Amino acid sequence: MAKECVFIDGVRTPNARAHAEKGWFKDVRPDETLTAVYKAIFERNPKVKPEDVEGVFIGTANVSGMQNDLGRISWIASGMPISVPTQTVTNQCPSGMSAIMNAARSIISGENSIMLAGGAEDMEKVPMGANMDMTPRLWDYINPAEVPMGNTAEKVAEQYNVSKEDMVKFAANSNRLAAAARDAGKFKSEIIPIMGKQEDGTEFLVENDQWIRDNPDEERMMLMESPFKEGGVVSAATSSPLTAGAAIVLIMSREKADELGLSYTYKYSFGTQAGNDPSVMGVGPIPAVQQLFKKTGLGPADIGAVELNEAFASQSLAVIRELKLEDSKNVPFKKVNTWGGAMALGHPLGQSGARIIVTLLNRMKTDYPDEKYGIATLCGGFGNANAVLIEKV
Ligand SMILES: CC(C)(COP(=O)(O)OP(=O)(O)OC[C@H]1O[C@@H](n2cnc3c(N)ncnc32)[C@H](O)[C@@H]1OP(=O)(O)O)[C@@H](O)C(=O)NCCC(=O)NCCS
Repeated sequence: MAKECVFIDGVRTPNARAHAEKGWFKDVRPDETLTAVYKAIFERNPKVKPEDVEGVFIGTANVSGMQNDLGRISWIASGMPISVPTQTVTNQCPSGMSAIMNAARSIISGENSIMLAGGAEDMEKVPMGANMDMTPRLWDYINPAEVPMGNTAEKVAEQYNVSKEDMVKFAANSNRLAAAARDAGKFKSEIIPIMGKQEDGTEFLVENDQWIRDNPDEERMMLMESPFKEGGVVSAATSSPLTAGAAIVLIMSREKADELGLSYTYKYSFGTQAGNDPSVMGVGPIPAVQQLFKKTGLGPADIGAVELNEAFASQSLAVIRELKLEDSKNVPFKKVNTWGGAMALGHPLGQSGARIIVTLLNRMKTDYPDEKYGIATLCGGFGNANAVLIEKV
């Protein structure tokens, strides 16, 4: 009989700018951000010992250099028991969410009862597409000029009629919401502070996300040009920035959690994955969530809170509008990303799918205690999108 999979805890590092001089984690490797979250999860949950974990699944989008078999290498290098099996999971941006889905499914099937899953990425140390050698046969099916991420964001803006004004308004609001959530201490229960460096080399304890712009200047943002297309409408201000960070969740079968006397509020209820046209990869959450609605019989009205990864403002608005997640066409929103999103918090590719689940759990517990369902969803390069349904138990 299928088991229930409950969320015991979820943590993340702050998200830092991925930049060789300006990035707070310029001297912190992706395995080290993972060490921080592994250690924190065991410190926060002393009833769970590392050797009790039956699997560690870690998502990362670019599996090369420092991120090669990141799951295994980070676990061993953290001094964790070698008897625990690990797996590095990769399918572009959804990698961290896929890792959690795979781990949750192994609990639901009864194969495992205690799992750790999440993701990590450092987009400066392992740049997007590092060491990728794409087969030319791919171009029989898709246009190479249309697959770079920024180009897909431009195409989505055009196809779904998302204006530059709307994108700027959305991105500025995301920054304001993130700053307000940070100042209200809302990220305190999910962020594990770690040591980093200022641009001048001074060491300090990084407690907050680096990219948040406290006072976004919409006029200036409107003037910023597209680095992706001549005369285009997408700019650095309406794109998720290059970021570094790690996030994980501790999940268990409900029986195991009860046996250990651990408390929980939410369970992994359902997950879907959808493939979509790589040239508009950003709208992948539309079929992923539509599938989730179809298979569960739920609809937008049943969902109390949504975490949608803001890869680009254009795809975020297209997804929110097409799925009718909100009553209004643009911010302020009631359910989606009310603590800000990747426009402000950053998007360390393979980490983000895990980060939005951690934030969704935290947001639901804090701001939507009476809501039964929440959804976390994100798109991925080459057209792979995931969605996860969280349910109050
Ligand atoms: C858009 C992109 C190319 C810009 O990269 P970049 O040229 O290195 O730009 P930065 O992010 O460093 O920002 C450049 C400048 O833009 C300006 N800027 C960015 N956002 C701004 C904002 N909201 N308001 C005002 N100025 C802003 C700043 O002046 C900034 O430089 P500074 O902070 O060092 O002074 C890059 O962030 C990118 O590729 N993003 C998408 C990543 C991606 O594809 N992810 C996967 C999605 S599925």
